[in-house]
Amino acid sequence: MSQRPYVIDEMISAKSIAARIEALCHDIRETFPKDERLVVVGLLRGSFVFIADLARELSDMDVEVDFLEASSYGDGMESSREVRILKDLRGAIEGRNVLVVEDIVDTGYTLNHVIHLLKSREPKLLRTIALLDKPARREVDFRADWIGFEIPDEFVVGYGIDYAQGNRNLPFIGKVRFTEEA
Ligand code: PRP
Repeated sequence: MSQRPYVIDEMISAKSIAARIEALCHDIRETFPKDERLVVVGLLRGSFVFIADLARELSDMDVEVDFLEASSYGDGMESSREVRILKDLRGAIEGRNVLVVEDIVDTGYTLNHVIHLLKSREPKLLRTIALLDKPARREVDFRADWIGFEIPDEFVVGYGIDYAQGNRNLPFIGKVRFTEEA
């Protein structure tokens, strides 16, 4: 597959991400009951780095990790999306404390659909955390309970986020800058 040449400029350093996760985990600890297990749900594939760091920062809590994969398809003509569940949770969440972990909220369709679905399973307490939020792109009224960084409408990669399935393994969030015209 040929791609336009590009470079990646660092936007949020690995150190800044780590510091932000530490701060967010203080709030998370305050929110969920200390004596009950927390089910941390990652949305595949983009959340795999964030959930790994988040879960380890919460190593003083009783944490169970589960994954869900959703895919959204737009028709390109209207602001409507169909969100499909490609892989569901392995475990039940009824009556349990759940933290849904996402890498980025863009239009909001994915998380809006997933949260609606998970709420129908009647968890005891359900909260969402997204590392990045692009409010300028929002098409549905959705806001995560915790956000790592609010960013402008830039093409970002790294820390789990891909460009054509590459760059997910970068330890920082970078901005893609194309070096040639399309
Ligand atoms: C990306 C991202 C979010 C979603 C956000 O996932 O990881 O899940 O899009 O977009 P939205 O707010 O407009 O719905 P993608 O479908 O690219 O899959 P991936 O996680 O496997 O990269």
